Amino acid sequence: MRSALVISVASGLFLAIAALNGAIGPGSFGAPGGAQAAETAQKPAAKPVAAKPGDPAAVDYLRAQWNPIHFKPAIDKATDADCLGCHQEIGKAKPRDASPAGVKAADTQAWYQTLDTYEGAQADFHWRHISSPFAKQVMNLSCTFCHQGNDPREESPHVTATDGKGAIQTAWERNEPPFTLRKMVNPSETCLRCHGAFPATSMGLEGKWHELREGMESPDAPNGCLTCHADQFRLVRHQVNYLRPDAIEKLAAAGSSDTCFGCHGGRAWYRISYPYPRHDWKDMPTEIPDWAKDRPKQSDARFLTKTK
Ligand code: HEC
Ligand code: HEC
Ligand code: HEC
Ligand code: HEC
Ligand code: HEC
Repeated sequence: MRSALVISVASGLFLAIAALNGAIGPGSFGAPGGAQAAETAQKPAAKPVAAKPGDPAAVDYLRAQWNPIHFKPAIDKATDADCLGCHQEIGKAKPRDASPAGVKAADTQAWYQTLDTYEGAQADFHWRHISSPFAKQVMNLSCTFCHQGNDPREESPHVTATDGKGAIQTAWERNEPPFTLRKMVNPSETCLRCHGAFPATSMGLEGKWHELREGMESPDAPNGCLTCHADQFRLVRHQVNYLRPDAIEKLAAAGSSDTCFGCHGGRAWYRISYPYPRHDWKDMPTEIPDWAKDRPKQSDARFLTKTK
């Protein structure tokens, strides 16, 4: 903070200070000298300050924290490698072996932790979603799928302010209301997609899946979801760049409904389910059910896979 202030005050001193401050490399400010240097120095966030965005050595802490890569539009172009250039620490995080009250992680198992898909001991959130063998098989989550920005002032991925007339200013689709502060990602557009409740009402099903599945599964047809989803309903699914649609169907056909249910109710952290897009499918009924009237017919544009 202090050095940025001093630099902007006296342009004549700029070169000397830049040379003294080892954290700010030469070349960080374009052509130094005279009024131009003072001007550029005053708005360091206008362009990436590091020669390479992922080169932590080239920037000081504040400049890195306010690096344009944490904001729109630059974050839309960021690759995982760009982020990991500064954030390798996320690969080292480990959960506690026991809760502060002494409950051992190994002694408490959730349903999904008993499945064959769940490999190894409890691990860090990022590892589970990016690097676990199952995650690698069925999904392809990039940093920016979840992190759509990181504004240190708002502590939220995007601005949540109201404008002068009290209207909501939101960068999210469907004019979603201001976003819960101090969460680093928007849960309704990320976690809810795979951790929502089983959408039984949309299916005209009543009851819990563990009760329903008994009547629908047999050794020959071990996946009860496919009783209806193999050739009757919603046959166009998962055509997005953050999932691996072919691998999902292959696993689900060979295995059990656990694969499908895992992302559609089995690991539900919410009592609602995500309002999925409703893609047209072959021989679909022409009548649109009430709950589906506002549903888009396509996945979000930013996730569309290249047309084959
Ligand atoms: C030039 C280095 C640099 C790059 C590149 C970078 N970050 Fe950061 N990031 C930082 C610094 C420094 C902070 C502040 C860390 C802190 O306060 O703990 C930060 C903070 C964050 C935080 C908040 C962490 C917290 O504990 O408050 C998130 C989330 C984040 N970055 C995600 C990303 C993502 C996603 C990308 C890629 C699109 C990215 N960053 C690229 C340096 C960088
Ligand atoms: C599935 C969604 C998701 C993906 C994919 C994801 N993150 Fe995160 N990340 C989160 C959430 C949620 C948190 C917040 C934890 C919190 O609030 O304490 C987080 C926290 C962070 C933090 C803050 C430090 C910490 O460990 O709490 C950094 C830095 C970060 N992520 C970087 C990345 C990078 C780099 C990538 C890509 C390699 C990435 N994330 C991929 C959801 C995700
Ligand atoms: C694209 C689908 C998808 C998204 C989006 C997603 N998850 Fe997950 N999540 C999974 C899958 C699949 C697993 C199980 C992985 C396994 O069994 O190895 C999982 C596991 C978990 C676990 C259990 C970890 C453990 O070791 O017990 C937690 C907690 C979790 N997710 C939280 C979140 C949160 C919070 C978000 C949003 C920031 C999120 N997930 C976004 C698919 C997703
Ligand atoms: C008895 C038939 C049947 C079974 C069994 C069934 N579904 Fe469905 N499912 C449907 C119908 C019908 C719809 C709604 C079709 C429409 O859009 O008109 C649907 C819709 C869905 C949707 C979209 C919901 C929405 O709100 O857009 C998901 C996700 C889904 N099913 C997953 C599953 C999973 C996972 C299983 C197994 C655990 C399963 N289904 C088992 C009939 C079934
Ligand atoms: C790794 C998590 C994951 C698994 C495994 C998974 N789904 Fe999904 N499913 C999703 C997500 C995320 C979406 C929303 C995709 C999008 O953005 O369009 C979705 C969308 C759907 C939809 C809505 C289709 C439409 O009209 O767009 C149906 C139906 C569905 N899934 C059924 C299933 C069935 C059946 C299985 C097993 C064969 C299954 N899912 C396995 C995560 C998963």
